[in-house]
Amino acid sequence: MARETLHFVENGRGEPVLLLHGFPLDGRMWDMQAKELSRAARVIVPDLAGFGRSRSMTAASLDEMADDVASLLDSLGARQATIIGLSMGGYVSMAFARRHLGRVARLGLCDTRALPDSAEGKKVRDTNIALVDAEGPSAVLERMLPALLSPGASPEVREFVRAMGRSQVPSGMKAALAAMRDRPDARPWLATFDVPAMVVVGSEDKLSPPSEAQEMVALLPRAELALVPGAGHLANLEAPAAFTAHLARLLAMLR
Ligand code: MLT
Repeated sequence: MARETLHFVENGRGEPVLLLHGFPLDGRMWDMQAKELSRAARVIVPDLAGFGRSRSMTAASLDEMADDVASLLDSLGARQATIIGLSMGGYVSMAFARRHLGRVARLGLCDTRALPDSAEGKKVRDTNIALVDAEGPSAVLERMLPALLSPGASPEVREFVRAMGRSQVPSGMKAALAAMRDRPDARPWLATFDVPAMVVVGSEDKLSPPSEAQEMVALLPRAELALVPGAGHLANLEAPAAFTAHLARLLAMLR
C-alpha cells in the first residue's frame, strides 16, 4: 500500500517555506511564525509522521520522516523550499538536506543538534519509550517539560505545550524516540550543505545549547548564528517576535 501523505496547513503565496515541528509536538507549535511569514511566502506546516493529524503514520527513522517531507513537496508541485526545523524538526531538516540537497533553497536549523545521542542519552530514550508504554504520552511530556522551556516561560506557553504534548499518540511518540536515539552524527554532512543557512538558538536552551549552535555555524559553509535572548529550547514559543524576525532574515538571504 502506498504511504500516506503528511497532513499539513498551508498559507500565503510565493516561495515555499516548510516549518518542521519538534518533539512531542505538532505543526500547531508554528502558528505564530506561519501567520507572520505567510505575508510574504507560501508557508507549509506539516504534522510529521506519528504526530498531530499524521498520527496514523509511523516513521522507522528520521530519514523516512525526511522522505515524507519530500513526498509532500512533490504532491504540492514544489521542487525546492526553504526548510526550517526546530529540534526534532531540525534533525529531520538535516536528514532532508543529506538526502535531497538540490531541493533545499535555504536551511533554518533551530534549537537542534548535529551531535548524535550519547550512550547516556540513548538510555534516556529507552526509559522514555518504556514510560510511554507504562504511563502514556503525558508522563513523558511532564518529564521533559523542564528541559523544553526556560524557567521564565509564561504559564500560557507552558499550558500550550502541555496540551499539545498530551494529545499525541503512544505509537508516534515511541517511533520518534527510537528514531532520535538512532540518528547519525550530522557533523560530517554540514560542510556539504552549501546553501544559505541560519542556526537559531535560545540563549537558555539546555537541550541544544548555544555552544553547539556555534559549532554548527562553523561547519556550515554559509551560515549565520541567530541568538534568541532569554528563551529556552522552544524559543519560537517563548520569544516569538525575536525568533520570527530571525526567520524573516533567513528568507531574505540570497540563494
Ligand atoms: C525536541 O524538542 O524535538 C526534542 O526534545 C529533541 C530531542 O529530544 O532530542
